[in-house]
Amino acid sequence: MMEKKWWHNKVMYQIYPKSFFDSNGDGIGDLQGIIQKLDYLKELGVDILWLSPVYESPMIDQGYDISDYYNINPDFGSMADMELLIAEAKKRGFYLLMDLVINHCSSEHEWFKRAMENPEGKYGEYFYIREGKEGNPPCNWRSYFGGSAWERIEGTDRYYLHMFAKEQPDLNWENEEVRRELYKMINWWLEKGIDGFRIDAIINIKKPKEFVSYEADGEDGLCSVHKVLEDAQGIGEFLTELKRETFEKHDAFTIAEVFDDKEGELPLFIGENGYFSTMFDFTIEKARSGKAWYEDKKLYPEDIKRLIFQGQKESEAVGFRANIIENHDEPRGASSMFVKDPKCDASVKMLGTISVLLRGVPVIYQGQEIGMKNMVFTDISEVDDISSKAQYALALENGLTKEEALAVVGERTRDNARTPFQWSDEREAGFTDGAPWLKVNPNYTEINVRKQEADADSVLSYYRKLIALRKNPAYQDIFVYGTFEKAYEEAENVLAYYRKGDTGTVLVVTNYQKEPRKLRLKDTVGKVLLTNQRDVKIEDGDMYLDSFGAVVCTVEER
Ligand code: NOJ
Ligand code: CA
Repeated sequence: MMEKKWWHNKVMYQIYPKSFFDSNGDGIGDLQGIIQKLDYLKELGVDILWLSPVYESPMIDQGYDISDYYNINPDFGSMADMELLIAEAKKRGFYLLMDLVINHCSSEHEWFKRAMENPEGKYGEYFYIREGKEGNPPCNWRSYFGGSAWERIEGTDRYYLHMFAKEQPDLNWENEEVRRELYKMINWWLEKGIDGFRIDAIINIKKPKEFVSYEADGEDGLCSVHKVLEDAQGIGEFLTELKRETFEKHDAFTIAEVFDDKEGELPLFIGENGYFSTMFDFTIEKARSGKAWYEDKKLYPEDIKRLIFQGQKESEAVGFRANIIENHDEPRGASSMFVKDPKCDASVKMLGTISVLLRGVPVIYQGQEIGMKNMVFTDISEVDDISSKAQYALALENGLTKEEALAVVGERTRDNARTPFQWSDEREAGFTDGAPWLKVNPNYTEINVRKQEADADSVLSYYRKLIALRKNPAYQDIFVYGTFEKAYEEAENVLAYYRKGDTGTVLVVTNYQKEPRKLRLKDTVGKVLLTNQRDVKIEDGDMYLDSFGAVVCTVEER
């Protein structure tokens, strides 16, 4: 029997501060803005709040490039604002997580500036600096954001490693002093009263022993760092030490972003004594992404079903992973999880039902609870995200026309999820009194909190009920500790599962298609706990499912 932890029955919510709520009219969301909206989040019913980075940063990668771990980006507010947010969150019973970005820092960080002044000095050892080869980088690794993962240090033949943008130099985890500095910083924040961290790109901290070239996988002669990471051995030592020196001492909650774990590693990461409390289940995201965005695959309901079942199966005996349909790096689930965006509330509610009731920790990304959708970009100049620009260029290089490349970026750009939160139908969606840093999605007149709060049938009202159901003491044992079992697998475009606990069984059944249908029941349905349909008709052993219908009900033990 798994040891029970305080966070097992919690629902998490991701805030992307820059786009959440602007309190002072400069067009940028901020900490005071979050404080003003805490009651909204309380009413939604979520418990754990994760803030994407708010540290001092030149914002080349929207804060995932930190120039001072001990300070707040003035665009977001001050340390006093942060302390107030911690206190106000605590007062309302929230748990607060910060984003921990320790694979790399910003090229504006003091450590890096000193390293550049004197690559041979102590700070040179804080990074990976290597000699070039005949005027070329040390090896042919391609960074995630395009181009070589090595940048030449001006006036020398040396290069530094950056797996992401060149403004995000990788920190040398092999150097004990670097690790000590990072642990000190982590403990400093935990002592300040935050409850834990979402941990960025953590798999990247261990590099392969040898910095050598790999077989090229593209026209540019480079090889993706995904491939390179397959040869990185021994990350466990770092992660064990990290946990021991920091999180464990504070009983902190940690949720790791891990894309490239190796087969069989899951128990080490999230098992009983794992390095982390939990990590995201990216089964769907991994399955749909090609080497580049223009090669991404479309997923159909049957694919999504298979992938969700697969992800749940993998976690089952090990621990809890965290379930998402979108985040600040992914397109909006309300758009991406449907081949043809059906633009209806039922489908959005259906998707929420599927995701929130799975086994694991539900994570809702800001705006998901009102069904925010992808943006329509009409020109590449409207896109801000650094990776989108690289992917646009890559698509052009590989023969796509400008229109095609824009269409690719439009579907995939991280800005889809980063447009300002839609609070009302007032100007700029009520997000700011000024000019927003990124264009508001024009659909805000239809999709916004104010409108949905006034409508008992809205997506928002549904999400409130959905979260309340997940946390209802009468069913909590089932939703938290119950097993996950596939249901009605053979019925095409029906995505259904059982959650079975000691106190009963719940069936979640959804009709992942536009056409309504009848489903021949194998179960004896008890009580309907939640549905996005007007009613749930069961007649002669058939359940009638609406277009994108979702039904959550108890069933008698089979
Ligand atoms: C993952 C973060 O979620 C993403 O936004 C960022 O660009 C990279 N890691 C690099 O920190
Ligand atoms: Ca502001």
